[in-house]
Amino acid sequence: MRKLAAGNWKMNGLASQLDEVAALAAAHPDPACDVLICPPATLVDRLARKIVLLDSTILIGGQDCHPKPSGAHTGDISAAMLRDAGATHVIVGHSERRADHAETDAQVRAKAEAAVSQGLVAIVCIGETEAERDAGRTLDVVRGQLAGSVPAGAAPETIVVAYEPVWAIGTGRTPTPAEIAEVHADLRARLVQRFGPGASGIRLLYGGSVKPSNAAEIFALPHVDGALVGGASLKADDFGAIVAALSAA
Ligand code: 13P
Repeated sequence: MRKLAAGNWKMNGLASQLDEVAALAAAHPDPACDVLICPPATLVDRLARKIVLLDSTILIGGQDCHPKPSGAHTGDISAAMLRDAGATHVIVGHSERRADHAETDAQVRAKAEAAVSQGLVAIVCIGETEAERDAGRTLDVVRGQLAGSVPAGAAPETIVVAYEPVWAIGTGRTPTPAEIAEVHADLRARLVQRFGPGASGIRLLYGGSVKPSNAAEIFALPHVDGALVGGASLKADDFGAIVAALSAA
């Protein structure tokens, strides 16, 4: 399986931020893993044009999409629009959207279905809060989110699952390697149980305070097939080091 280093820029980046992509492409012209950047929607088209100019293999993704293909939904963006702008992937159900916009598993699943129907790969995010982990409910929570958010017929070409503990996002804190491995092994087992042996090829990303200093240790864990990186994806040097660590894993 080809691994995936995905950068989620969140609500960061004006046009000048694209210089970091040029630096990343120059430093890592032929990585041994897929490299994906999910800029804010305003930059998807410009990033797509830049990637062509750079003759780079970097992939482009959106950070959210509406479940409907078009209609009266002011401010929203459809999967078809992202595709039209040059995206091949889209993140759905990020914990910040689940929290800020009260997105439910059913809505996340509908978004993933819309993405896949438009030919995009949906990166479905799940993860427990700190209170849930402290209560010993981590596996219950992520199993429920996985069952509710991942659409029927999920396959390696259409779905990526990102495990992002909410309390590890942007905090500099991460679960222990054993804790990450426990969740990823459980997610893998659930996916194979539901979708069959082909689901062993569905990429499972870890996200939450991934940085150059911890990337190699995390990427060495079984069933960790890459990372979804926030803050460290904004700087070419940091994201490049993570790409290099994944390429070497
Ligand atoms: P950080 O890497 O900044 O912790 O963010 C992780 C994340 O939320 C990626 O989607």
